[in-house]
Amino acid sequence: MSELKGLRDDVYRRPLATALLRLGLSEGWRCADVGAGGGDVSVALAEMVGRDGRVYAVDSDPATRDEVARAAAAHTQVIALTQAGEDLSLPEAVDLAFCRFLLLHVIEPLDVVRKMADAVRPGGWVVAQEPITSAGRIGGDPFSMPHARHADVGAVLPALVRDAGLAVVDAWAEAPAGVGPGPVTEYLATLTGVDPGDDPVVLPPLVTVIGQRGRAG
Ligand SMILES: C[S@@+](CC[C@H](N)C(=O)[O-])C[C@H]1O[C@@H](n2cnc3c(N)ncnc32)[C@H](O)[C@@H]1O
Repeated sequence: MSELKGLRDDVYRRPLATALLRLGLSEGWRCADVGAGGGDVSVALAEMVGRDGRVYAVDSDPATRDEVARAAAAHTQVIALTQAGEDLSLPEAVDLAFCRFLLLHVIEPLDVVRKMADAVRPGGWVVAQEPITSAGRIGGDPFSMPHARHADVGAVLPALVRDAGLAVVDAWAEAPAGVGPGPVTEYLATLTGVDPGDDPVVLPPLVTVIGQRGRAG
C-alpha cells in the first residue's frame, strides 16, 4: 500500500502541482488535507506554506496518524487529526480545504464537500482532485475500479462543488499516460495486479475543481 502511495504521488504529482500553482498557495496559508492517507499531499502543502502556515492532515482511519507523523517528521506545522470528512471540525477556519482520491470512497460525496466548504474562511478555497476511473485505458480498453463507491466521481465534481455553495473558479482533467516500463505501467500493475506488458496505458484522469467560498461568508 505504501508503495502505491509513493507511486501515486509520483504519477499524479503534476495535477497537484498545477492546482497549487493555479491557486497561488503560498507561505502562511492554513490548510486542511481531508482523507490525507499517508500524508503525501500534506507534506507538499507544508513545504509551500512554510513554518508560519499550518496543515491539518485529516483522515477517518486512525492508523494514518502514524504514517503522517513519519512522513511529516520534519514539518511541525502538520497536525494529524482522526476525523471523518462528514464530521469535519477544525480548530480554526482555513484558507484551503483540499482532497484527492477521497470522494470516490465516501458514502455521500456532497456531504463531505459541504463540510469542506464550511471549514474555509469567507473568500477561502476548496480544491478537490478525483478520478474518472472508467475513462482510463489499457491497450485501448476501459479500466475499471469496481471496489470504489463512486469510481467516476470526477465526472460530476464541478457540480458537487457548485452544489456545496461554492463558485467554480476553474476545473480541468489530467491523465498520466505511458507505454512500456516506467512509473505509469508500474502504478497500474501495483493498483490492479495486472501487468500491461507493452500495451499503452492511460491512467484514470484526475479532475481538479477549484471552488471559492463567497466573501460574505
Ligand atoms: C486513496 S487514499 C488517498 C490518500 C491521499 N489523499 C492521496 O491522494 O494520496 C483515501 C484516504 O481517504 C480516507 N478516507 C476514506 N473515507 C473517509 C472519510 N469518510 N473521511 C475521511 N477520510 C476518509 C482513507 O482512510 C484513506 O486514507
